[in-house]
Amino acid sequence: MNEKKAVGEKAVEFLKEDIVVGLGTGSTVYYTLQLLGKLVQQGYSIKGIPTSSQTAKIATELNIPLTSFNEIDEIDIAIDGADEVSSSLELIKGGGGALLREKIVAKAAKKLIIVADSSKLVDWLGSFPLPVEIVPFGVEATKRHIQKLGINPEIRMVDGTPFITDNGNYILDCACPKILAPHEMEHDLNMIPGVVDNGLFIGMADMVITMDRNKEVIIMEREKQVTNTIHQ
Ligand code: 5RP
Repeated sequence: MNEKKAVGEKAVEFLKEDIVVGLGTGSTVYYTLQLLGKLVQQGYSIKGIPTSSQTAKIATELNIPLTSFNEIDEIDIAIDGADEVSSSLELIKGGGGALLREKIVAKAAKKLIIVADSSKLVDWLGSFPLPVEIVPFGVEATKRHIQKLGINPEIRMVDGTPFITDNGNYILDCACPKILAPHEMEHDLNMIPGVVDNGLFIGMADMVITMDRNKEVIIMEREKQVTNTIHQ
């Protein structure tokens, strides 16, 4: 079973016509985009705001109409992937390097739906190296400040050169011990000059669509998460 396809497609059921949709980045949202593209072809009307040049390219190829923050004030629903999801719906994101635009879109959205295969579910955040977007100036100084928080940053490289984000910045992948206080960590990282933002998304996800051990799609919701894990 392709879990990414199952959860990625499931998210489309929560959309309505004539709304603005934040379009996330990654191999799970890829399936959301493919299904949305088919619906648009059949006359379904939505406007998307992409979180990366990669997603903008896919959406354009699928003829999904795109809009921008110049044209709209609010996003109705954003759908995005995640690298880790805790039981309190705290997230690590940015494995694809799009965390800054993803966070801007998530913050502007009335509702954030995360699509994540079951391998992303964790008891504690921190096994996945935490992506941190930094400006290229003063990298070594920024890294030293980050190390003082007890984490170990490495510049993300592609083919021997630093990976460059859509915003012209670098990504530091930070090996962390178990992140016991994610909200503080998110804040402390963002207080360091040179850090643009980091991949901790705390208190942002409203719903996570994932799979249980029996390979059934389940929905975890923030407000009622303990009592409301719904089997689909
Ligand atoms: C990109 C992200 C992605 O949403 C995250 O890496 C999950 O990707 P995938 O669905 O490919 O596993 O945060 O910056």
